[in-house]
Amino acid sequence: MTTTHSLAAEHLTLGYGDRTVIDSLDLAVPPGRVTAIVGANACGKSTLLRSMSRLLAPRAGRVVLDGKEVHRLPAKELARTLGLLPQAPIAPEGITVADLVGRGRHPHQSVFTRWKDEDDEAVAAALDATDTAALADRAVDELSGGQRQRVWIAMALAQQTDLLLLDEPTTYLDASHQVEVLDLLTDLNRSRGTTVVMVLHDLNLAARYADHLIALAGGRLHAAGTPDEVLTEDTVRTVFGLDSRVIEDPVSGKPLMLPIGRHHVRRPDDARSAAG
Ligand SMILES: Nc1ncnc2c1ncn2[C@@H]1O[C@H](COP(=O)(O)OP(=O)(O)OP(=O)(O)O)[C@@H](O)[C@H]1O
Ligand SMILES: [Mg+2]
Repeated sequence: MTTTHSLAAEHLTLGYGDRTVIDSLDLAVPPGRVTAIVGANACGKSTLLRSMSRLLAPRAGRVVLDGKEVHRLPAKELARTLGLLPQAPIAPEGITVADLVGRGRHPHQSVFTRWKDEDDEAVAAALDATDTAALADRAVDELSGGQRQRVWIAMALAQQTDLLLLDEPTTYLDASHQVEVLDLLTDLNRSRGTTVVMVLHDLNLAARYADHLIALAGGRLHAAGTPDEVLTEDTVRTVFGLDSRVIEDPVSGKPLMLPIGRHHVRRPDDARSAAG
């Protein structure tokens, strides 16, 4: 079992140059739960995740992990507790899948300890869990987008952290692999107590898989709570400027969002004319 950790943003302000992206945000990640962050493009989701994993220093406020300021922790110490899958990671040229996933073990090694059996086991388990074992000897830059995404997820899993932050882990994945990856993260959460925080664009998968849903808008927290509380027609309109219907997902019982665009919307007389 993993230890549960508390991770929170306190009055966190983030930005680039003279632009503020996240404005005095207060947010607590529920320990031992699955959290999904949703919001429009460019609203600051990746910026927030990067700051929570120490890659971007705050303008003001702080990120606190177990009472300690994340930006004051040594990188390696943090990497043993918290892993990040960035939105667009870049692999060193020519690196093989096995070597890249093996890099996930670096935080557990020191200059004095060499590669151990448990490192092999962690890499093998991560390859297996992400359905990438058959790719182990292939070069990462020769893989398809979806294969590559699963390899990056494997690297994050090999790090075996109690907290896992994933920026759009299902990008590039086909429908079956999307569900497989989200099921796998749920398994990790349930069997080991891993705290999962992920950015997802698919609101319906977010509502289905997250215990806690966070909607960001305009650099601020628009709503946070259970999927039932957060995924409403009002939230979708305010956060995405999109009209929608939210119904009950017949599979999971969670909210299911159906977007209303300008086309392909059934009018009241359509059923009549189709019938006659
Ligand atoms: N390295 C950077 N330098 C300058 N501006 C940046 C940088 N990274 C992001 N930004 C800007 O910060 C804002 C938030 O970007 P961010 O990547 O956090 O958005 P996001 O919510 O993850 O969007 P998406 O859904 O498209 O991934 C955007 O306006 C973006 O242009
Ligand atoms: Mg992003």
